[in-house]
Amino acid sequence: MHGFNPSLLLAILGTVSIGQGQTADPSASIPPDASTALYPAFTYTPSVDADYKPHPQGIPLSHLNHSINPLSPLLLPAVSNSPPGLPTLGSGSNQHPYWYEEITHNGISPFITNGSEWKVFRNVKDYGAKGDGVTDDATAIQAAINDGGRGPGGNGLGTTGAPAVIYFPTGTYLMGVPVQSYVDTFLIGNPINRPTLIASSSFVGTTLLFMKDPDLDSTINFYIGVKNLVLDSTKVSSGTTFTIMDWSVSQGTQLTNVLFKMPPASKHTGVSTPEGGSGTYMGNLDFTGGNIGINMNNQQYSIKDCTFDGTTTGIFITHGFDLVFQGIEFTNCEIGVDATNGGMGNVGSVALIDSVAAKTQTVIKTKSQNATTAGDDSIVIDNLRSDSFGNTVVAGGVPILKGSVPKTWVYGKAYAQNGPLAGAHDLGTTYQTSRSPALLSGGKFFTMAPPTYQQFSVNQVVNIKTVKGFPVHGDGQTDDTHNINLILARNAGSAITFFPAGTYLVSNTIFVPPGSRIVGETLSAISAIGSRFSNANNPTTMVQVGFPGEIGVAQISDMLFTIADVLPGCILLQVNMAGASQGDVGIWNSHFRVGGAAGSAVETKCQSAPPCKSAFLLLHLTPFSSAYIEDMWGWTADHDLDGNFNQLISTGRGALVESIRGTWLIGTAFEHQTLYQYNLVDASNVFIGMQQSETPYWQGTGGPAQAPAPWTSNLLYADPTFSNCKSNDPNCRMAWYQRIVGGSNLYVYGSGFWTFFNDLGTCLGTNGTCQNNAVEIVANPRQLFWWNLNTKGCENVLLDDGVVLETRNNNPGSWDAVVAATLTHSGILVRRALNGMTRRAWQA
Ligand SMILES: *[C@@H]1O[C@H](CO)[C@@H](O)[C@H](O)[C@H]1NC(C)=O
Ligand SMILES: *[C@@H]1O[C@H](CO)[C@@H](O)[C@H](O)[C@H]1NC(C)=O
Ligand SMILES: *[C@@H]1O[C@H](CO)[C@@H](O)[C@H](O)[C@H]1NC(C)=O
Ligand SMILES: *[C@@H]1O[C@H](CO)[C@@H](O)[C@H](O)[C@H]1NC(C)=O
Repeated sequence: MHGFNPSLLLAILGTVSIGQGQTADPSASIPPDASTALYPAFTYTPSVDADYKPHPQGIPLSHLNHSINPLSPLLLPAVSNSPPGLPTLGSGSNQHPYWYEEITHNGISPFITNGSEWKVFRNVKDYGAKGDGVTDDATAIQAAINDGGRGPGGNGLGTTGAPAVIYFPTGTYLMGVPVQSYVDTFLIGNPINRPTLIASSSFVGTTLLFMKDPDLDSTINFYIGVKNLVLDSTKVSSGTTFTIMDWSVSQGTQLTNVLFKMPPASKHTGVSTPEGGSGTYMGNLDFTGGNIGINMNNQQYSIKDCTFDGTTTGIFITHGFDLVFQGIEFTNCEIGVDATNGGMGNVGSVALIDSVAAKTQTVIKTKSQNATTAGDDSIVIDNLRSDSFGNTVVAGGVPILKGSVPKTWVYGKAYAQNGPLAGAHDLGTTYQTSRSPALLSGGKFFTMAPPTYQQFSVNQVVNIKTVKGFPVHGDGQTDDTHNINLILARNAGSAITFFPAGTYLVSNTIFVPPGSRIVGETLSAISAIGSRFSNANNPTTMVQVGFPGEIGVAQISDMLFTIADVLPGCILLQVNMAGASQGDVGIWNSHFRVGGAAGSAVETKCQSAPPCKSAFLLLHLTPFSSAYIEDMWGWTADHDLDGNFNQLISTGRGALVESIRGTWLIGTAFEHQTLYQYNLVDASNVFIGMQQSETPYWQGTGGPAQAPAPWTSNLLYADPTFSNCKSNDPNCRMAWYQRIVGGSNLYVYGSGFWTFFNDLGTCLGTNGTCQNNAVEIVANPRQLFWWNLNTKGCENVLLDDGVVLETRNNNPGSWDAVVAATLTHSGILVRRALNGMTRRAWQA
């Protein structure tokens, strides 16, 4: 293992004591649940996939406050008048301090002992950091991270019990030793003038920031963020092997708005993921100098809007199956993307879209594919502008493409509309693809940086817990529905609404009206409770963004949508409205969680078969909505984050996408929902850039329920019926990863659909698969372009109108199977020339 040794850090830091302030509370220990568990807890057996297989053991939250009971909320008396008026938001300017630095910091951790006093916001200057570029601030930064007894492996505070923002005011923070971070930690700088963390010339160590918790496997490093910083290694000798950041983390994490400054022609790496992980998204990053910008060793990733200038290799792929690089600029690089790892790497698929290469010798260096069969290491290039300085693609040492790619170039297996049923092997085929204007900005698929609202002053931001006369608690035990709705209605069009860290219980729908901008802190939770959400035959939405037909701004960042109880009639988030401009309706770094954590009765109530029907649907994008969604993890717990309760949970549905006005899903993951992870029904104008999913581990052979059970298919919600399966065929009756039902102008780049288990921990099925079918296309969608579809453990990759079209046997590669191009509903007909290298394509 390349792991960091925490005792070494302690020795280096000397005075900082991890575990300081921690008092054991014997009455708060988690009761054993073995007697109620029908199935034994998972035991993890290392295998060849050791870095990647899920490790579903819990991290004890032993400081639980058992008297917090979300199930008996204290109802507040209704308040009828509306909160005091606020100035109009206007367009703002940068001529003021950053609002987040100045606002009242009253975030809490509701479910731990003394949680109302928990310090979420930690300004490093309050811990002795100087930020003067002279003083060594590493010890002070570490003290800010550790305060309150935080430490490796949760240190008794679980994964969710000890949230912390380590805040850096503008300044230069010299560091002589590494800093070690843990789960639920967010390093945030002032975006108006980003602070610099600079490694000193006498730095002791190899890595500036360890963002991965050293005691937890990379695949359970969740809820971590780094934003608005400059990270600088230019004082470290260029001949020293040095890494600015170890980012071996997984879903529910955000790395954005960071400049990595490295000396030119050096041995430095910007971001590295040495211990793997199962990540989702990073973006809006700049790299200068260095040997490697990003060293990617992770199951899957969306990397968006990054620049690499003078970096020897922009992105080096050690390992990765579903990688989507969008809006990348390589300037003065030797190699843009190195997907060979000296021939050692297992690279399933790479999509490079809407990118630019200038003075770069090789844009993509890849292995040579087996022309007979395997499309492993699939490469899809879509809209690349490249000067004629070097080669665009070099495969197995042989240049196979030069210059720009205005349309789409494919190296891998392809299923064309009129192509052979078994697919064809494209060894460099250009398809004359088209794109829907609704999704474009300047010819590229629209993208947007996560908003910081740095142009606004603190007077234009309302801390929802400080509105006089309209108390909102966020304490995990008070029903905050009424006053949240009043304050959101009043703030619409006039102020940003800030939810300090905490859990806001709601017993009815929260309405987000046009004109809303909502910002959380370390993922502030909105959590549903009560009978309104209990009827599976008549579901109710917890957070509703606008009404159908409404147009305006509705933006949400850094929030968590969850449930406090078993609520089979709860739709956690529904978006109905659209923006006047692209991105006006947007959701960034906001996630779903059902069960698996302290503060939700789902964690303790759903331990044995049959799996509880806990929530109806996570995300619903209704027909007239148009939303830009970036960095979202919709997770039904397969294991407990804060303990060791067995989790046998059934959330009905993942993401139901019916929108027609323009939808962008950039870096999303939906895992363990029962009927499907993604269901696109009559949807139009949808861009998906990297999606990742897993089915519930309890489905399939030996499992306690066969889909749609424990649910019944609800045609009002366009549910799949599984009528393609025999009545007793458990590996057929498993969640669809993605269904595409009708619709048009659908662009999917990079799907990673992984079935590791059925029977709660084994994989029983034909030829070592654990699921029969991964995805289906039905009802003849038009203009569907599906690039880089990767699966694991699924016998059939894709069913097209009920017919098995793509199988793992026919498409070996990636983690198990990979198809570079599924164009059977694209309208593109392909005429194949005899030598296979000069195929011409045209649009029907
Ligand atoms: C809670 O805080 C009180 C007062 O600060 C302190 O005496 C007590 O030890 C704390 N309890 C725990 C479990 O941390
Ligand atoms: C536990 O929560 C209750 C209810 O909020 C609170 O009154 C009590 O002080 C908390 N106990 C501790 C030790 O934090
Ligand atoms: C390509 O695949 C075929 C069929 O599996 C196999 O016979 C052949 O050896 C492979 N070629 C190379 C170069 O690996
Ligand atoms: C199982 O694998 C064998 C050997 O590769 C193959 O002949 C057979 O078709 C496979 N069965 C299925 C159902 O994929």
